[in-house]
Amino acid sequence: MTNPVLSVRDLSVSFRSDTRTVHAVDHLSYDVAPGEVLAVVGESGCGKSVTAMAVMGLLPPTARIEGSIRLGGTEIAGASEKELGRVRGKDIAMIFQEPMSSLNPVLTIGRQIGEVLRRHQGLSKKEARARAVELLDLVGIPAPAQRVDEYPHQLSGGMRQRVMIAIAVACDPSVLIADEPTTALDVTVQAGILEVLQSLRERLGTAIVLITHDLGVVADAADRVLVMYAGRPVEQAPVHELFAEPRHPYTRGLLGAVLRPGGEGKRRLPEIPGLVPSLDAQPDACNFAPRCAHADDQCTTRRPGFKAVSLDAGADAAHRAACWHPQETPVLTPTTQEAGQ
Ligand SMILES: Nc1ncnc2c1ncn2[C@@H]1O[C@H](COP(=O)(O)OP(=O)(O)O)[C@@H](O)[C@H]1O
Ligand code: SF4
Ligand SMILES: [Mg+2]
Repeated sequence: MTNPVLSVRDLSVSFRSDTRTVHAVDHLSYDVAPGEVLAVVGESGCGKSVTAMAVMGLLPPTARIEGSIRLGGTEIAGASEKELGRVRGKDIAMIFQEPMSSLNPVLTIGRQIGEVLRRHQGLSKKEARARAVELLDLVGIPAPAQRVDEYPHQLSGGMRQRVMIAIAVACDPSVLIADEPTTALDVTVQAGILEVLQSLRERLGTAIVLITHDLGVVADAADRVLVMYAGRPVEQAPVHELFAEPRHPYTRGLLGAVLRPGGEGKRRLPEIPGLVPSLDAQPDACNFAPRCAHADDQCTTRRPGFKAVSLDAGADAAHRAACWHPQETPVLTPTTQEAGQ
């Protein structure tokens, strides 16, 4: 990949309390190209949000962060709050699952969008309001010139999420992190939000890191996918390749289970037998081994590297897996089945 807009290298995040240390993210690396949509998937608690908050510089002081986070070539891991304040909202922005908790209930939405513009772009009140109307239009809010003067409680959940997106893209950031942006919404509203994200990528060239539980969202919206398990990266591939030729047993479990009897049409991440391990320690072994049908001595004594799965792929390989025994046989998923019909 040439010149990624966001590059995360060997990122580890742990939280220390008096009684225990939680190793939430363990040596995670990924790149995002300009205008690319990278989906990040994995069961609840696997470190997706902590990774996003680390990139945004929004973790609490109890977090210990190691590794490198480069935004447009500039290192931001360990940057001061003042430096981060300059890039946050301007170069990189984030939207969350529950827009109501991020909006201020006593300010109009126009005011809230305008504040970002005035802070980062020095616009006057009048200019900021005019730009807010344009942004509401950009995210598909009908009658934006009227809506700009409304308060959050006057909008539906889907419209509030659109407002959050408008605030996030107000300063035309190069990267937008969307953490489960459609999870709290019903299916038709979800589709509208995904369309907005796609159109932002097309019209503004925004790269999007899309964190989701929903394999249907991944198939519809992503260019590439990063699968995480218990704080570690386990597989990464272009979206079609991941669905057609998943190599890591965990990814195969996620995708294969969609087709189990009674599983057809199920879009959420399915249950895989066994529990996600405790994050009190990250073993020097494969941390999926207790749930893996292919585990052997090597798996339980040595940590697999996050390596290219095809031998001729080279150092810049798009398809990687952290597994001593990457699986070969294709699995049937809804995507590959449709392609064969
Ligand atoms: N502020 C915090 N203090 C301690 N542990 C945390 C904190 N935030 C997250 N964690 C832990 O980090 C792990 C990863 O959480 P998270 O990134 O939120 O998972 P998810 O993949 O569901 O987004 C979880 O075990 C969670 O309990
Ligand atoms: S390294 Fe071993 S235990 Fe881990 S996923 Fe691969 S085969 Fe399973
Ligand atoms: Mg989360």
